[in-house]
Amino acid sequence: MKRYNINLEGKNIAITGAAGAICGQFAIELAKVGAKVALLDINLEKAQEVADQINANGGFARAYYANVLSRESLDECYEKVIADFGYINLLINGAGGNHPSATTDKEYYEKGDILDETVKSFFELPDAPIRKIFDLNFTSILLTTQAFAKGMVESGGNVINISSMNAYRPLTKIPAYSAAKSAVSNFTQWLAVHFAGVGIRVNGIAPGFFVGNQNRGLLYNDKGELTPRSHKIISHTPLGRFGELDELIGTLLWLCDDEFSGFVTGIVVPVDGGFSAYSGV
Ligand SMILES: NC(=O)c1ccc[n+]([C@@H]2O[C@H](COP(=O)([O-])OP(=O)(O)OC[C@H]3O[C@@H](n4cnc5c(N)ncnc54)[C@H](O)[C@@H]3O)[C@@H](O)[C@H]2O)c1
Repeated sequence: MKRYNINLEGKNIAITGAAGAICGQFAIELAKVGAKVALLDINLEKAQEVADQINANGGFARAYYANVLSRESLDECYEKVIADFGYINLLINGAGGNHPSATTDKEYYEKGDILDETVKSFFELPDAPIRKIFDLNFTSILLTTQAFAKGMVESGGNVINISSMNAYRPLTKIPAYSAAKSAVSNFTQWLAVHFAGVGIRVNGIAPGFFVGNQNRGLLYNDKGELTPRSHKIISHTPLGRFGELDELIGTLLWLCDDEFSGFVTGIVVPVDGGFSAYSGV
């Protein structure tokens, strides 16, 4: 278990997607270095389990239901969080993910696919899942920031968005997710500029490939073996493996700490084993 020599006492942090693999781990590590954490998720039961674990280990955590697709739900949640925490000065926008319904069957369109009823081609991607995935990964960040940065505009704050490798170059099969993550990186820059004069820093983290609930089925088959897509990913990752969740923590803590990164705003840090740097040749 790594120990981080950093002190985030005084940081009250709201984290969306906090019941998930990456942001659950973020919440646990942030609490260990003195931050108080509000865990927001549509899966309240799971968020509560993470909060219970943090509290049992001497940290301060509360779990809340929030649907990041709904401004009304986020506003209601914000009121409850403020009642418990007093203020929030750091927001981590981590809820997101893809869904098979917004995924094409094939990497490349082949002649005749449009007529083949057994193939879900680009033309058969249904409207509703496309919009949902785009909104879940992009619009949700804008809405959550509207709801939660309100209290930061007077006394400063910090927003950290979770982007993806798809922001650099889109992965095959997942057009809505890719476009949305690209929008997340773009919005991170826009928001950093917009809030620069009121002391709110805005940055992002673009994880490479880490095994989470949403992508487990893409990365491993039913027998727990690497899928052909996983082999491709690993052969395009110069460090030659998937990331371990704790390898995101150093970057996270650096961006959270104003002493370490106080002059850093408007960037998205790839933590990817070199994936975004490698051309494949
Ligand atoms: N795992 C990876 O390799 C990887 C790589 C790049 C980016 N990411 C991004 O990191 C973030 C976390 O990914 P993860 O792997 O931990 O995924 P995860 O599926 O484990 O966690 C996602 C969480 O978001 C929550 N969520 C879904 N819809 C919601 C909604 N409408 N309102 C509130 N919460 C909702 C889920 O309940 C879940 O707890 C996502 O934004 C994902 O796109 C992950």
